[in-house]
Amino acid sequence: MYGGGQSRKHGNMPKAKNILVLHGPNLNLLGQREPLHYGSETLQSINQKLQDGASQAGVSLAVFQSNEEGELVNRIQQAGREQVDFIIINPAAFTHTSVAIRDALAAVRIAFIEMHLSNVFRREEFRRHSYFSDLAVGVISGLGGKGYELALEYALQASAGS
Ligand code: DQA
Repeated sequence: MYGGGQSRKHGNMPKAKNILVLHGPNLNLLGQREPLHYGSETLQSINQKLQDGASQAGVSLAVFQSNEEGELVNRIQQAGREQVDFIIINPAAFTHTSVAIRDALAAVRIAFIEMHLSNVFRREEFRRHSYFSDLAVGVISGLGGKGYELALEYALQASAGS
């Protein structure tokens, strides 16, 4: 799904990659929202670390947050047209409800990691069901903001074809 890895021009050099990070509803409130579950780091700080990591690796990274299901669907469809090759998505509450976002990811066939700050398996029963996990390359849950960094690390390795 990652498309090979070795550039014809540069032998072993990883080819340029396009990563998209999607944040679902209420994640704009990180830092003030239920810190016991989600920690005290803001979304802005998380995004900045991701941007820094991507630029150090010479990879392009776009970030999009929305509280609206349709906007997330539209952004995923756009990613399909833009040749995004890896998505890190925290669907937030839509994890447990959204067939529409699941179908969008299935339609564009872009490899993705499902990301959660909190450990959804230690919380309410309804958070244990995800519409995404069976399509995801992997799921990260319960590692707080660090989880995004680990997801990026994986995405960068995947883009290098390893
Ligand atoms: C979340 C977990 C979801 O159950 C919740 O609705 C969120 C955030 C997380 O990052 O832990 O909004 O995805």
